[in-house]
Amino acid sequence: MIRATDLTVSHAEPDRPVLSHVDFHIAPAEIVTVVGPNGSGKSTLVRALLGHVALDAGRVERAPGLRIGYVPQRVHVERSMPMTVRRFLSLPRRVGNADAAAALARTGVPGLEGRQITALSGGQFQRVLLARALLGDPQLLVLDEPTQGLDQPGIVAFYKLIEEVRAETGAAILMVSHDLLVVMRASDRVVCLNGHVCCEGTPQVVSAAPAYRALFGAEAQGTLALYRHHHDHDHDHVAQGHHHGPRCAQDH
Ligand SMILES: Nc1ncnc2c1ncn2[C@@H]1O[C@H](COP(=O)(O)OP(=O)(O)OP(=O)(O)O)[C@@H](O)[C@H]1O
Ligand SMILES: [Mg+2]
Repeated sequence: MIRATDLTVSHAEPDRPVLSHVDFHIAPAEIVTVVGPNGSGKSTLVRALLGHVALDAGRVERAPGLRIGYVPQRVHVERSMPMTVRRFLSLPRRVGNADAAAALARTGVPGLEGRQITALSGGQFQRVLLARALLGDPQLLVLDEPTQGLDQPGIVAFYKLIEEVRAETGAAILMVSHDLLVVMRASDRVVCLNGHVCCEGTPQVVSAAPAYRALFGAEAQGTLALYRHHHDHDHDHVAQGHHHGPRCAQDH
């Protein structure tokens, strides 16, 4: 659906790239999660895949006509301009009342149509953003930290919903997340990013990868424990970054 090859991006300082030599792809119906510390280039990667940032080098190929539902990490809401949830759902594409109601019910916030966007709680707003993304019947859902503001049961419910969406619509899902334990349970593939791809693979493989454990420390122990009892690790399948793999944790 999307393939990035040897991507290098630097925002302000050309000699200090935010992303270096990153390869990335996502296939139909795949759930791929990008993890990494703050400032490691996750949002930049997502925006580069969508064509929203200029590339210094490399290329991004997207399937022609691909319908993408994107929930950015930060959404600017004009506070001075009143807008109901119902109207917000019809931007940029007009949707019918029944579809709007169904999408809100689907994402766990039924009946919010009449509320002002600015009056929503953080968690409610995230669910409304997801509802709006789903209304476009996306083939690829791109969600940058979609569980920010959700409480713990909300996070678990959110990932369950994402799996349902994938099962029902066959949509591929690309997420950025800091919820390591849930990520590891709910993703087909995890990409560990720190300016470059430190390691990637199935959750089992990434949990056991030294680069991942160096980057996430104690938290990584928890995700490794998740698999230790259930799986024989096959370290040969760990795809280490080619460029600075061993320096992963010290790069930033
Ligand atoms: N538009 C921009 N102009 C200049 N620098 C930017 C811009 N966007 C991001 N950066 C810088 O690029 C680096 C990576 O930012 P990015 O937002 O991709 O990180 P992230 O991994 O998504 O972090 P977080 O977990 O905090 O969301 C940071 O140092 C950031 O300051
Ligand atoms: Mg980000």
